[in-house]
Amino acid sequence: MAVKHGGNLQEVSELYKIEKKNLIDFSANINPLGIPERVKEVLIKGITELVHYPDIRYRALKRAIADFHGLSEEFVYPANGAAEAIFMLGRTLQLKRLLLLAPTFMEYEAAFNQQETEFCYFNLEQRNFQWTISELMRSAKEQQVDGICLCNPNNPTGQMLKQFELEELFAFCQENKIVLIVDEAFVDFTKEEYSFVSSINTNENLYIFRSLTKMFAIPGLRLGYLLTSNRSILSAIVEKTVPWHINTFADLAGQQALKETRFIEDSQHYIAQERGFLEERLAFFKELEVYPSQTNFLFMRYQGAGCLQEKMLKQNVLIRNCNSFNGLTQKYYRIAVKSRADNQILLAALEAVLCE
Ligand SMILES: Cc1ncc(COP(=O)(O)O)c(C=O)c1O
Repeated sequence: MAVKHGGNLQEVSELYKIEKKNLIDFSANINPLGIPERVKEVLIKGITELVHYPDIRYRALKRAIADFHGLSEEFVYPANGAAEAIFMLGRTLQLKRLLLLAPTFMEYEAAFNQQETEFCYFNLEQRNFQWTISELMRSAKEQQVDGICLCNPNNPTGQMLKQFELEELFAFCQENKIVLIVDEAFVDFTKEEYSFVSSINTNENLYIFRSLTKMFAIPGLRLGYLLTSNRSILSAIVEKTVPWHINTFADLAGQQALKETRFIEDSQHYIAQERGFLEERLAFFKELEVYPSQTNFLFMRYQGAGCLQEKMLKQNVLIRNCNSFNGLTQKYYRIAVKSRADNQILLAALEAVLCE
């Protein structure tokens, strides 16, 4: 199937002639607890604000992001989803050779392609998804890269580098004048100790992407940001930005969402519990090899015949076929960790498909 991203219900529904409302979507990794109540209230009240333009400098939103991380507002570029931040950086930062995990989120290539950056890969499947930071650094050296872009936790594998590993990598990057870009779109679902945000203050060659669309279940609203202390890159990005690129709803929702620390903790707890439940039950299916994950999705290899995604669609369950990711040779799939009721539907559908 040609669908490039998870969560593309419209395209799947047209391709497979299944009504959208009948599909259960495990292909997008969105918090099953939904939008926090206070964020919904802010959105509803926010209707009256739509008669005005949003603050073109997004000062309150920047302050909310900066406070959330204990950083200076100067280092924050709020964006229309992390995707916009990725593309703006890709259009601005000049890199000759950029090292990417393979597989990883595909938009880094699309974003940096515009600068004619050459891409180098660190293949995970060839290492059976078990690798060390030393191997990654060796690969960066051998391939003479001037940039490394990591997705942490990595989409689609769910693997996560720990703080001390990132620190080692960061020291290596500083020593070798390599730019380090870390996409933390899914880090909220893990413990915050894994985030690398606190290092922003000390190095101008570090860029971090964050997304609010996954944790706060607002992919339709669009909100994310870039953090960096590199002032010249930030002002070059701001110069290229379309005025009012973030709408008033997203601006207001973001300010409230970042106050929802209890909701984030509850979500982390819920995800850990449901991921454990799914891991335990999925282990019963011999055709599936499920890889350990630290976040709100699971990556797995299917060793049976045919396409598991198509088989699951017959049960009205949409899972992510990973065949469009770079660097995978076998049949891999990704599933979101959802509510217990939905997870049970997924397991029943798998049973119908795999044990028929
Ligand atoms: C790793 C990663 N980064 C960034 C994004 C984009 O997030 P946003 O919805 O904030 O644009 C995605 C979306 O799936 C993603 O998987």
